[in-house]
Amino acid sequence: MFERIRVFRENQKYIDYERRELQKLSTVDCDPRRLRSIDEAEIHRMFTDTILEREWNDSAHSLSRHCAIADGATSAVNPGDRRALYYLIRGFHPCRVLEIGTHVGASTAHFAAALAMENPTGLENPALVTVDLEDVNAHEGPWKRMNLKCSPAEMLQNLGHRDLVLFITDKSPNFLRSPRYQYDLIFLDGSHAASVVYQEIPLALSALKQNGVILLHDFYPNNKALWSSNRRIVPGPSLAVQRLCEEGAPLQVCPLGALPWPTKLGSNVTSLAVLTRKT
Ligand SMILES: C[S@@+](CC[C@H](N)C(=O)[O-])C[C@H]1O[C@@H](n2cnc3c(N)ncnc32)[C@H](O)[C@@H]1O
Repeated sequence: MFERIRVFRENQKYIDYERRELQKLSTVDCDPRRLRSIDEAEIHRMFTDTILEREWNDSAHSLSRHCAIADGATSAVNPGDRRALYYLIRGFHPCRVLEIGTHVGASTAHFAAALAMENPTGLENPALVTVDLEDVNAHEGPWKRMNLKCSPAEMLQNLGHRDLVLFITDKSPNFLRSPRYQYDLIFLDGSHAASVVYQEIPLALSALKQNGVILLHDFYPNNKALWSSNRRIVPGPSLAVQRLCEEGAPLQVCPLGALPWPTKLGSNVTSLAVLTRKT
């Protein structure tokens, strides 16, 4: 009980801090017209597609061998969320994807493996651009600090998908101001600070192709805990979207909730969410 109160107070402090940081920023323009509008039923159909399940079972073998990144210690997306990312690529069929937040490359590997299953003539080269403020493939990069066997680039090489991916070292707002390409799907998993996500979303919206998709990670709806055994929250993404909506952007978030497979902490719950246009 005392632990629960302590975490509640820490969460509250974190929210207050993020709110103060957010207030320091002046209003940004946010135009969601290129964003696709998506409903829960569409996502549910992707996650329960039996053909996709068979394909996943085949791909998962190679992925778990070459992308042996355990959950918990590395801040990589958890294995259940990686599977969801794979399904989302195969469901939305993007030709080009942008990922913000490469880190050890767990999500990168799953995006690349799914893109490799798309019709190669439909893909644009590079099909996946992945950005991190740190050089993730450096000798002393995050993979080394996390005691992994290989860098993200080597992992992609071993998976046979290295040629699909372009690695960029840059801060997200800077990259998104001149994003090199337009993207069908953008995954925001870099900084989770409200002030950064508040800048990233409008910039990502202008880097989207028409009918594009934006995925968020670590989205805690209404800043409520998602897991009963870990009640800590990451308030940034939710506060950033809340402010954009308060300023009139016709956005809403579709949290992916419970997946049909395990994610973390003995649950099926994910913090993945799709940003969608209010209809
Ligand atoms: C949670 S980790 C991403 C995990 C990764 N998606 C995976 O599955 O392995 C967040 C990463 O975002 C990077 N990052 C933080 N702020 C950033 C920013 N403003 N621009 C680009 N990358 C950022 C960090 O260096 C870190 O590697």
